Amino acid sequence: MTSKQKRSIKDTIPTLKTNGIDLTKHFYKRMFFHNPELKNVFNMGNQANGKQQNALAGAVLAYAEHIENPGILIGTLETIGNKHVSLNITPEQYDIVGTHLLASIKEVLADKATDDIIEAWTQAYNELAAIMISIEEKLYQNNLTKKGGWKGWRAFTISSIVDESKEIKSFYLEPKDKKDIPPYFPGQYITVKIFIPSLGYEQPRQYSLSSVFIPNYYRISVKKEIGMDRIPDGMVSNHIHEKVIGDEIWVSSPSGTFYADIVSDDPLVLISGGVGVTPMMSILEAYSNSGMGNNVVWVHGCKNEEFHTFKSEVELLQQNNDWLSSFVFYEETEIENEVVRKGRIDLSALEAKIIINGAKYYICGPEPFIKAHYNSLITLGVSRDSIFYEEFGPQLLQIN
Ligand SMILES: Cc1cc2nc3c(=O)[nH]c(=O)nc-3n(C[C@H](O)[C@H](O)[C@H](O)COP(=O)(O)OP(=O)(O)OC[C@H]3O[C@@H](n4cnc5c(N)ncnc54)[C@H](O)[C@@H]3O)c2cc1C
Ligand code: HEM
Repeated sequence: MTSKQKRSIKDTIPTLKTNGIDLTKHFYKRMFFHNPELKNVFNMGNQANGKQQNALAGAVLAYAEHIENPGILIGTLETIGNKHVSLNITPEQYDIVGTHLLASIKEVLADKATDDIIEAWTQAYNELAAIMISIEEKLYQNNLTKKGGWKGWRAFTISSIVDESKEIKSFYLEPKDKKDIPPYFPGQYITVKIFIPSLGYEQPRQYSLSSVFIPNYYRISVKKEIGMDRIPDGMVSNHIHEKVIGDEIWVSSPSGTFYADIVSDDPLVLISGGVGVTPMMSILEAYSNSGMGNNVVWVHGCKNEEFHTFKSEVELLQQNNDWLSSFVFYEETEIENEVVRKGRIDLSALEAKIIINGAKYYICGPEPFIKAHYNSLITLGVSRDSIFYEEFGPQLLQIN
C-alpha cells in the first residue's frame, strides 16, 4: 500500500465513523439482497439485536486505524479467524463481502468517495482479507492434521440430554459416522447449524464444550433464551431445547482462543455469570484430570440455587480436592455463609482469596459482566495480560 493510499484511508476514517451505523446497515442490507444464501451463514439474531453490525465493519475500521502497524491486531485477527473457521468461511466469500463493503462505502459517502479513496479502500480490504484468509487456511489445515479432525459440517447424533438447571440442558453429541473426534483445549467451542423452518434457512450458533474432552462425544450445555415484552425467544437455543435423543445436528470442529493451558502450573481464577459457567466447567474438569494440583478459585454468579448449573459437580470436586475453592453469589438466597453470598459478584469482597501471585484470570458472561469484573481485577492490581475473557456473542469488547 502506498503512502498516498494510507493517507486517503486515514483521511476518510472520521467520515466513515460518523456514518458507521449507516454504512454497516447499508452493507448488510445490500449483501443479503444480492447474496441471500449468506443468511444461512450469519447470525440473523445478532442482525436483529444490532450486535453484528458493529463487529465486521468495526474490525475493518480498526484495521484502517492501524494501517501503519497492522501487526498490533494479530491477536484480534486470530480470534476472528477462529470464529470464521468454526463457521466454515471460504476465500470466495471474502470477495462477496469485499464487493458489498466497497460498494457501500461508495454509496454512503456519495460525492466524498473519490476514485482515489475507493482505490485505497479496495487495497486496504484486499490486504486485510489476504491476512485473514491465510490465518484461516492454517487453522483449517491444523484441524485436518488432528486425529479425527475434519473441515466443514459433520453430522452428530444427540445421544443423551440432561437437565442441568432451570434453564440449561446438556446435550451429548456423538459423531454419526462413529469415527474419531479430535480433542480440544478446555474453554473452546463448536458451532452447530440448525434449520429454522420459520425463517426458511439455517442458523449457526457457537456453544462452548462444557466437559473435559471425552473421546466418544462432545458435550454442550445450552441456555433456553426466553424473550420478553416485544423481544422474541432466541431462535436456535429454543429449537435445541426441543430436540430429542436420536436427532441429528451439524457440527464444526472445535475452535476458539479462550482456553486454559492445563500443563502450566499457574494458579487459576475463574469468574462466570449465568451460562458463562460452560467453558469454566470444561477447564475445571481438565485441571482435575491433569492431577496438577494447582490452586483454582471459581467465583460464579447467578439468580438463585435453581439456576446454578453444575452446582453438585463443583461441590463434589471441592469436597474431594483442597486445590479448589468455590464461591457463589446468588441474587436471591435465604442462606448466606463463607461460600454462598447474596447479591451480584463482588470481587473486592474476595480479594484475599483471588489475588494470587502469578494467577491467570478467566471471565465469561455477558458484556457488562465482563467489563465490570475486568475493571475490578485491574483495580485490585491484576495486570491486563493475566486476564482472558469470552463474550457469548460477536466480540465487541476491546478492553485489553
Ligand atoms: C464463543 C461462544 C460460546 C458460547 N457458548 C454458549 C454456551 O455454552 N451455552 C449457551 O447457551 N450459549 C452459548 N453461546 C451463545 C449462543 O451462541 C447463542 O448466541 C445463544 O444460544 C442465543 O442464540 P438464539 O438463536 O437462541 O438466540 P437469537 O435468536 O440469536 O437471539 C439472541 C438474543 O437476542 C434476543 N433478540 C432476538 N431478537 C431481538 C430483537 N429484535 N431485539 C432485541 N433482542 C432480540 C433474543 O431473545 C436472545 O436473547 C456462546 C456464544 C459464543 C459466541
Ligand atoms: C476482512 C473481512 C472481514 C472482517 C474484518 C471480519 C470481521 C469479523 C468480526 C470482528 C467478527 C466478530 C468476531 C467474534 O465474534 O469474535 C466476525 C464474525 C463473523 N464473520 Fe467476519 N469478517 C470478515 C469477513 C467475513 C466474511 C468473508 C464472512 C462470510 C461471508 C464473514 C462472516 C462472519 C460471520 C458469519 C461471523 C459471526 C457473526 C455472528 O455470529 O453474529 N466475515 N467477522
